[in-house]
Amino acid sequence: MVSILIENLSKKFQAKQVLNHINLEIQTGHLVALLGPSGSGKSTLLRIIAGFEQPNEGAIWLSGKKSTNIKIQDRQLGFVFQDYALFPHLTVFENIAFGMRIRQTTLSTIQYRVQQLLQLIQLEKEYDKYPYQLSGGQKQRVALARALAIEPKVLLLDEPFGALDVRVRKDLRFWLRKFHDEIPVTTLFVTHDQQEAMEIANEIVIFENGTICQTGLAKELIDHPSNNFVKNFLDL
Ligand SMILES: Nc1ncnc2c1ncn2[C@@H]1O[C@H](COP(=O)(O)OP(=O)(O)O)[C@@H](O)[C@H]1O
Ligand SMILES: [Mg+2]
Repeated sequence: MVSILIENLSKKFQAKQVLNHINLEIQTGHLVALLGPSGSGKSTLLRIIAGFEQPNEGAIWLSGKKSTNIKIQDRQLGFVFQDYALFPHLTVFENIAFGMRIRQTTLSTIQYRVQQLLQLIQLEKEYDKYPYQLSGGQKQRVALARALAIEPKVLLLDEPFGALDVRVRKDLRFWLRKFHDEIPVTTLFVTHDQQEAMEIANEIVIFENGTICQTGLAKELIDHPSNNFVKNFLDL
């Protein structure tokens, strides 16, 4: 089944064409990396899928429903950004519970779901700590749990490990890969790091200057890069 369908999508900021007739299909349950250099339009595409920006042309379909003009809160999405800070005055538990409280979820459901998520991110003992008491990697795991608490169909991750040091990034990649296989969600993961994309994703979408140059499994891209840009960018 197709979870996200992007049809002929274009976006301009003033005179600058940032996305140029993008077409993309993401299957339900897949973890797909959007890989490309800085400024190639990856975050803009994610922001349009989330509903923070409107395209100039084209459409987004989510689970078969045309969603280009649907409100952010009605899209059933979770996001994590590189610098999407946790609420500093709330505990880990309350950070994760935040979206459910807004939606007036019952207390027993909140308790049950936060407990499950704490297990999934392996931070059960940290439930009553505040963000300043956590490491960078722990904070991003809490941010992921917070995004997942509303049971989104789609998870949008924009360089979520970008601010962390190399070793922690590696651990989190491995962890995200494993964790993704345990939950029913479709994930789009933005990165400019080819190694990160290869280690995490089922499928990689390579961006250059507002267009998609190639889509495929890591092995397909390595064996058959479609042009010199892909070849150079993947260091082949
Ligand atoms: N709100 C905005 N207003 C004007 N230009 C923008 C805006 N957001 C992004 N851009 C420009 O769009 C281009 C693509 O940016 P972005 O989508 O952030 O790329 P990436 O995530 O691949 O680094 C860049 O040239 C950036 O400066
Ligand atoms: Mg970006």
